[in-house]
Amino acid sequence: AGAQAATGGLVGFQPVPVSTADTVVVPKGYKVQVLAPWGTPISGTMPTFGPSRSGADQAHQIGMHHDGMHFFPIDGSSTDGLLVMNHEYVEPRFLHAARYAGQELKSDEVMVTDGKRPDDDVLKEMNAHGVSVVRVKRGADGTWSVVADPHNRRITGLTPMEVTGPVRGTAHVVTKYSPDGTRTRGTLNNCANGYTPWNTYLAAEENWAGYFRNGDQQDQKPNLPREQARYGVKAGGMSRYGWELAAGGAEEYRRFDASQTGNSAAEDYRNEPNCFGWVVEIDPFDPGKAPVKRTHLGRFAHEGVVFAPAVAGKPVVAYSGDDARFEYIYKFVSARPYDPATASGALLDEGTLYVARFNEDGSGDWLALAPGQNGLTPQNGFTGLADILVNTRLAADRAGATKMDRPEWGAVDPRTGAVYFTLTNNSRRTEEQVHPANPRAKNNYGHIVRWTEAKGDHAATSFQWDIFVLGGDEQAGRGPNGQKLTADNILACPDGLWFDAEARLWIQTDIGESAQNKGDMAVMGNNQMLCADPATGEMRRFLTGPIGQEITGITGTPDGRTIFVNVQHPGATTSPKDWAAGKLASHWPEGGSALPRSATLVISREDGGVVGS
Ligand code: FEO
Ligand code: CA
Ligand code: CA
Ligand code: CA
Repeated sequence: AGAQAATGGLVGFQPVPVSTADTVVVPKGYKVQVLAPWGTPISGTMPTFGPSRSGADQAHQIGMHHDGMHFFPIDGSSTDGLLVMNHEYVEPRFLHAARYAGQELKSDEVMVTDGKRPDDDVLKEMNAHGVSVVRVKRGADGTWSVVADPHNRRITGLTPMEVTGPVRGTAHVVTKYSPDGTRTRGTLNNCANGYTPWNTYLAAEENWAGYFRNGDQQDQKPNLPREQARYGVKAGGMSRYGWELAAGGAEEYRRFDASQTGNSAAEDYRNEPNCFGWVVEIDPFDPGKAPVKRTHLGRFAHEGVVFAPAVAGKPVVAYSGDDARFEYIYKFVSARPYDPATASGALLDEGTLYVARFNEDGSGDWLALAPGQNGLTPQNGFTGLADILVNTRLAADRAGATKMDRPEWGAVDPRTGAVYFTLTNNSRRTEEQVHPANPRAKNNYGHIVRWTEAKGDHAATSFQWDIFVLGGDEQAGRGPNGQKLTADNILACPDGLWFDAEARLWIQTDIGESAQNKGDMAVMGNNQMLCADPATGEMRRFLTGPIGQEITGITGTPDGRTIFVNVQHPGATTSPKDWAAGKLASHWPEGGSALPRSATLVISREDGGVVGS
């Protein structure tokens, strides 16, 4: 209470210094617990964690590389609920540690022998991706645990899913698996998340393109289909993990060679990548229900999705960033109004997708990506709405949207309705490409942009924007009031972003593995989380993480007294030589000689107060 009185704002804790230690540090008066690390058993025969677990075991355990997450209270409880989280990708060295030990391997490298990969390795990798739904409860001693429950469920790279919205049933998504184009299998590279006003979870598909290769077009990139080329599907070579090389040749693995002539005519996999790049809706309270890919939110490298507060009688509005250099920020506005009694995911199947243009004078416009609008005509190569959505990036190019510095998470201020988006970095922006909304060339530190919709209406087609924070050290950085940053709040590469119920803005950082604790980034220490009060401009460092990780994913209980935060890829900075020598950069969280494991932090105040206050 004293600290809050001192600032007059929402941020009341004592800031923590930057850290290079292999541990999590939180402010004085706070406690932190590790929950649900990779490999925690949640279903089936509850297989315990171990270095030699099978691919089938992994389907009953928490996945790798925790990312976006949401706490769904059970009956409004702040001590009992379903924690739903994304697992963005895998680190094969750790996943297959028993057999990969002693080999000089990079953090994302897989072992290929005679052009083949073991089937069970591929299965394990696919099952370590996706989403976990797990019941968590706080015990009498204040400690949280994962409990066995019928809701507990893994959604993976193999889970059957529905395709809905304008792309459903079109030729774009006709596959061997779904000849009528209504279904697909799996979700991949689920980075940030979202949650709907009707209490369902959304998993975004970010860097899915790398999971495919197209063997038809060896070294002939100009000939790749545009719906592959514009997203970075590789011509030739091996996909990110080489799943198409699975020794047994099962169809669910072969499909990652997104080619025609590389397979028989009956196995034309060119449309498989069209089944990825969407927002996936999951009802955590209905474990029997197939996840749904909602195509009207567009196809790109969806970082996450965030809703404006839903108002009865008004459309629902959802914002989403496309995290790649020089890509765009989008919003979806539903055609039908929100009715709390009947609202469901069907609201996301009809409406308008817009892309943002930031004008140099501080105004902005939402450009509709719809047939006949903004140049999206058959003459210009867009045959209809489904074609526009499958080729969202090309449609946004045509419409004249503003190319941003890697849009990551968004958050909407519950008090003011202002929308905030992180722009994590863009080392390739040149002096000639500098624009007031992306104001720095070689933008290694990143920034946060903010806008207010015209007349406070989230469905409006214009807005006013400004820069909220410029990342950087004490010289280059700027805080919410334009003030210089200090040792208490320097930051780089903002990524995760979340408003709590009292309108504290939580900011998480993702300095890439190759840059962490080196050069200009050395002063930043390990990746961290800060807390800001947009009303006062106060911003303080709340948490620092262990070595090699990024802090990503945040949610809380309804009473604000517990927050959950994810630690992703600790130890990823281990060099190939050090891995071969058995020297790991991190042993977090177990310590000793343990393999590092992504995990969830449960953070609360020792006095039981509201976190951050
Ligand atoms: Fe998966 Fe854009 O961070
Ligand atoms: Ca991210
Ligand atoms: Ca990352
Ligand atoms: Ca990132």
